[in-house]
Amino acid sequence: MQDIQILPVDETKQPVQDESQLVFGKEFTNRMFVMEYKTGQGWHSPRIQPYGPFSLDPAALVLHYAQEIFEGLKAFRREDGEIALFRPRDNFERFNLSARRMCMPELDVDLCLKALRELLKLEQNWVPKSEGTSLYIRPTMIATEPVLGVKPADEYLFYIILSPVAAYYKGGLKPVKIWVSDEYVRVPSGGTGEAKTGGNYASSLYASALAAQKGYDQVLWLDSVERKYVEEVGSMNICFLYDGKIVTSPLSGSILNGITRRSILTLVKEMGYEVEERALTIDEILDGAANGRLTEAFGTGTAAVVSPVGHFTYREREVDLGNGEAGELTMKLYNTLTGIQYGRCEDKYNWVETL
Ligand SMILES: Cc1ncc(COP(=O)(O)O)c(C=O)c1O
Repeated sequence: MQDIQILPVDETKQPVQDESQLVFGKEFTNRMFVMEYKTGQGWHSPRIQPYGPFSLDPAALVLHYAQEIFEGLKAFRREDGEIALFRPRDNFERFNLSARRMCMPELDVDLCLKALRELLKLEQNWVPKSEGTSLYIRPTMIATEPVLGVKPADEYLFYIILSPVAAYYKGGLKPVKIWVSDEYVRVPSGGTGEAKTGGNYASSLYASALAAQKGYDQVLWLDSVERKYVEEVGSMNICFLYDGKIVTSPLSGSILNGITRRSILTLVKEMGYEVEERALTIDEILDGAANGRLTEAFGTGTAAVVSPVGHFTYREREVDLGNGEAGELTMKLYNTLTGIQYGRCEDKYNWVETL
């Protein structure tokens, strides 16, 4: 495995003392991990260097044809002071799946994990200490070759940056209001939905802005062909407690294979729930909420862990779910998963890796 060079860094920037002031993704630590790729040469020059802007040619392919992928995971400060990562290998394996889908070069997962650990060791005083806070980790790859032509690039940049983030929920889990988009879709069938690539997020902005204008928190995306099957909500997977079973959309190729989703499915099976990964129509959901067959719904993702849903609006139909509080199972799953991450609950499946 290649050695990682550590370059000198000016440490004048210090983490904020008042962690309640942290804003998601606005502030970054002093260092970043960087390496480059060139066809014929492969990945080279892995190094940890000062955080700062890159110099990019205006013709860099990423700026024109969006050849870009990323990941999102967190480092947690546990009560004993240790720093923990949650299933980090899964993130880098998914990164390689995204790379394949976007015709980008894959990475050596072990080198990425080593780079991340070294970076975190150097930046460990940036992992916040207060309840629910974490250090958000953003691995990214962009196509840097300067050429105007729709083709996979011959040059890439990979980097990892770190951002201390506040607790997602301040004062308890609050159910979100969801607007079901039947006009706009996140990704087409056969598109890049399963890859974590910037274009999927750019194409979600318009519907999300419309939903926000109407006073909703998140958009629920339907499938692009029939516009009736539930896919994802915002940038989360979605699970339902329906007829006492856990029902969630299948990995059809158009949704992200969420690491929180897979962890939650393991936990609910252990709790004795039957799990159904099946296509689920929006009418089934709304009828279920109205007639009591649907008792809880929650999004799952790294940012919020679980996010309870309290309301759906689809065309003219408005349906409330629950009593304005997070459901019992939703709360239990939130407490169990965050308990494993922060070291309060037993980590039976060896999901957690400490530094
Ligand atoms: C579109 C989308 N779906 C689902 C997820 C949830 O994935 P994970 O649980 O791995 O964070 C995310 C967040 O990363 C996402 O961006």
